[in-house]
Amino acid sequence: MTQANQPSTQTWSQRFESTLHPAIADFNASIHFDIQLIEYDLTGSQAHAEMLAKTGIISADEGAELVRGLEQIRQEYRQGNFTPGTDAEDVHFAVERRLTELVGDVGKKLHTARSRNDQVGTDTRLYLRDQIQQIRQQIRQFQEVLLSLASQHVRTLIPGYTHLQRAQPISLAHHLLAYFEMTQRDWQRLGEICQRVNISPLGSGALAGTTFPIDRHFAAERLNFGGVYANSLDGVSDRDFAIEFLCAASLIMVHLSRLSEEVILWASQEFSFVSLKDSCATGSSIMPQKKNPDVPELVRGKTGRVFGHLQAMLVLMKGLPLAYNKDLQEDKEALFDGVKTVKVCLEAMTILLSEGLEFQTARLTEAVNEDFSNATDVADYLAKKGVPFREAYGLVGKVVKTSLAANKLLKDLTLDEWKDLHPAFEADVYDAIAPEQVVSARNSYGGTGFEQVQKALEDAQKRVKEE
Ligand code: ARG
Repeated sequence: MTQANQPSTQTWSQRFESTLHPAIADFNASIHFDIQLIEYDLTGSQAHAEMLAKTGIISADEGAELVRGLEQIRQEYRQGNFTPGTDAEDVHFAVERRLTELVGDVGKKLHTARSRNDQVGTDTRLYLRDQIQQIRQQIRQFQEVLLSLASQHVRTLIPGYTHLQRAQPISLAHHLLAYFEMTQRDWQRLGEICQRVNISPLGSGALAGTTFPIDRHFAAERLNFGGVYANSLDGVSDRDFAIEFLCAASLIMVHLSRLSEEVILWASQEFSFVSLKDSCATGSSIMPQKKNPDVPELVRGKTGRVFGHLQAMLVLMKGLPLAYNKDLQEDKEALFDGVKTVKVCLEAMTILLSEGLEFQTARLTEAVNEDFSNATDVADYLAKKGVPFREAYGLVGKVVKTSLAANKLLKDLTLDEWKDLHPAFEADVYDAIAPEQVVSARNSYGGTGFEQVQKALEDAQKRVKEE
């Protein structure tokens, strides 16, 4: 196959007299990572060849021969028989070289009216469009798992926190549905970004367009692009789409990382809200009692890499003069690793939620019954009986203080004690402060009341079906 050890000068015009220094050839080469673009490079080149034939720039036979040769390279690659080395510099040269070996001189016509600058932009966009579709599907799978868990836990109570202090009890489903909403925005955001990813730079040439009578729209349609870049300079030098993707990827990671942090806390002995199943936890090499939450820890840890790639891309672009500069070759590893990291993390978190943990419902019930997170409800109780809320709030603060001193919870106060605090208290105060009631009463739109949560769940079940 094409393990051609040809000197690198063969790539360039006859302006060059000697070969590249081997270390510089290695430094310059991108083949070891941009080989990932090969299928997109082949598809993009086939569309370009068809366009050249359609516009009469090459003959129909030549076009067909190029398309056939490119397809043959695809088969070779899929069978593991096309493994170009550093001498090829990048995937674009590797393909062109192999094509010429396969189809002869006509292979040398493929690059008519094209530059690697618009070619690499085309490949990267085709790649990212594909990856975005896959990531959106993965988000859907993750959401399905969230919704199935939520449907089992509408009436399971869990302490709700602010400042990581017990605040008010909530429905566990409500908590899980918050993640549905976050990931729903992620799903939508990727869809919106994809519209800008899906614009064709092909035909921008090196930077200024081409002297050939090309049909950019024809090639773009063959590749299912939604449009073409209106300005050739912008076409070859724009990487906004990659930055936007890494931004969206960073937000996905923020969301997964927040959930990870919660799972890590919940799995601790201090919380004991979830137990980790053996399939998703590891042990310690020295402490036999331990079960470690490696999956969410790794997701939390990998979040930084994706932020790093976003930062790298922003810095890469800042101050780059128009149009193409070789700096742009650095976009790929950031993008590839960003894509890969988001995908493995989504997969791992989906597995973790679907089969790797179990909510400890008895412990959760105990937790919501052992604190003062019903204090707001006592204040609301008085406010509903006409006591101004701020006054009620002050009074309940005092009750909490004396109860704490007496080592009692609010539910342990006798009716006489309540009445001593304020004559408006009646026996129904006990119902009002029971955790079930406390949750159920927050029936405002978007709140944790069971009725609202049930509606929100049904609404989410509809939205998750959206294409
Ligand atoms: N490997 C290059 C990249 O990834 C392809 C474009 C090269 N263009 C150039 N003018 N040297 O950016």
